[in-house]
Amino acid sequence: MTVSVCTPEEVPQLVASVAGLFAEDGGVRDPFMDTGWPAREGTAYYIDLVKDPGCLCLLAAGGGGHLVGRLCRPNPLRPGAVTAELESLRVDPGHRRAGVGGELVAAFFAWAAESGANETRVKAFAANRGALEFYRAQGFEPFDITLRRTA
Ligand SMILES: CC(C)(COP(=O)(O)OP(=O)(O)OC[C@H]1O[C@@H](n2cnc3c(N)ncnc32)[C@H](O)[C@@H]1OP(=O)(O)O)[C@@H](O)C(=O)NCCC(=O)NCCS
Repeated sequence: MTVSVCTPEEVPQLVASVAGLFAEDGGVRDPFMDTGWPAREGTAYYIDLVKDPGCLCLLAAGGGGHLVGRLCRPNPLRPGAVTAELESLRVDPGHRRAGVGGELVAAFFAWAAESGANETRVKAFAANRGALEFYRAQGFEPFDITLRRTA
């Protein structure tokens, strides 16, 4: 599977994959998630991102999936940290367990290193066991944790 940087012309493919992620992940795990956001706002949001040198938008060939990464703003409370965040990742259900996610993340790690990052981060829903296993397989380890109490 070939992984490539998303061009402005390919933003509709990126938005479609992000919409799939919202539907499958946030939309079933977070009652407040706005699953209509990708269709409404996604094109404008990702058109800016693909042109931003501080962001990485990748597509896997043939609608196989996507990854979005970004360099975080410096945090004065953590002056030594240069952080790259993996903001969004999805592999199409028909292409899973074939190494595509691993390829996307490897390209993200290479971009983060070239960009001077000395740490990478990703957030996942606690209930998304598959993603948590996947990220562990890529070398991520739990670091901080969000606790939530519903009103
Ligand atoms: C998580 C996801 C991106 C993984 O993509 P993938 O292309 O299937 O991953 P890979 O084939 O590169 O998997 C590499 C390794 O990660 C682990 N892994 C991947 N998916 C896993 C799962 N569902 N359960 C347990 N381990 C898993 C395995 O160790 C796997 O190696 P193996 O297949 O040799 O056992 C994909 O399942 C997906 O898009 N899920 C839905 C969206 C999502 O949850 N995105 C992340 C939001 S934070």
